[in-house]
Amino acid sequence: MSSSTTPPEEKIPYHVAIIMDGNGRWAQARGKPRHAGHRAGVESVRRVIEACGNRGVRVLSLFAFSSENWRRPETEVKMLMELFFTALNREVRRLVKGNVRLRIIGDIAAFSDKLQNLIRESERATAANDGLLLQVFANYGGRWDITQAARGLAAQVQAGMLDPDQIDEERVAGALSFAGVADPDLLIRTAGEQRISNFMLWQCAYTELYFTEVLWPDFDEGALDEALADYARRQRRFGRVVEPEDP
Ligand code: IPE
Ligand code: IPE
Ligand code: MG
Repeated sequence: MSSSTTPPEEKIPYHVAIIMDGNGRWAQARGKPRHAGHRAGVESVRRVIEACGNRGVRVLSLFAFSSENWRRPETEVKMLMELFFTALNREVRRLVKGNVRLRIIGDIAAFSDKLQNLIRESERATAANDGLLLQVFANYGGRWDITQAARGLAAQVQAGMLDPDQIDEERVAGALSFAGVADPDLLIRTAGEQRISNFMLWQCAYTELYFTEVLWPDFDEGALDEALADYARRQRRFGRVVEPEDP
C-alpha cells in the first residue's frame, strides 16, 4: 500500500541518502541530449533539499558523481563538472539562507583548482548553519572510502601510534570520509536499477533500501513522501529478535 501522507516525526529517518539516477533516460525520452537531463536533475536537487528540511530529516546525502563516472564520454564528464560549478555557485546563497550546512565528500583533488576553491568557499560559507546537513558525494566511491581509511590507519601503525590489535570497527568507521555522522537510515535509488553502484558500502550495512521507477528529474515531494511512508512501515531489527507488539 502506498500513501503520500508524511509519517509522524518519530518515524522520519534521521539520515536519508539518495542515488540520483535516470537523468539520461529522462532526456532520451524527450528526444533531448543527456545534458538536458542533468540540468533538470539540478532542479530536483533543490526541491528535495527543501522538502527534506521541511519534513525534519537531519542529514541528506546525495550521490552526484561516482569514482566510475569518469568512464563516461569526455564531453559528458566536462559538462557535469561545469554544471557542478555553476549550480554550486548559484545555490550557495540559498543554502546559507535556508540554514543548510554543506559538505562535499569524495576525492576532490581530481577536480580543477577553480572547482576545489569553490567547494571550500561554499563549505566555509555554510559552516555555521545548524539546520539540515547536506552531503554531496562527488568523485566518491565506497571502495575509495574504505581504501583511504585503511591507508590512514596503516600510516598510524607505521608511525608507531597504533597497534594493529587496536583496529576495531570503531577505528575503521572513524577513519572513513564522513566519520561522526550517523549511518543512513534510508537509501533511495531512483530510475529502477536495484544496485548500490559503489555508494556508501560500509555505512549502508543496516540501511533500509528503497527503489523507485521514478527518474531523478521527476522525483518530487510526492515521490519523497512515498519513500518516507514506506520507510515508516518497516521494522528494523539489526540482527535482533523483535517480539510482536501487543494487539
Ligand atoms: C544520474 O543519471 C547522474 C549521474 C550519474 C551523474 P544518469 O546520467 O546515470 O542517467 P541514466 O542512468 O543514464 O538514465
Ligand atoms: C550511480 O549512477 C552514480 C550516481 C548517481 C552519481 P550510475 O548511473 O553511474 O550507475 P550504474 O552505472 O548504472 O551502476
Ligand atoms: Mg545512471
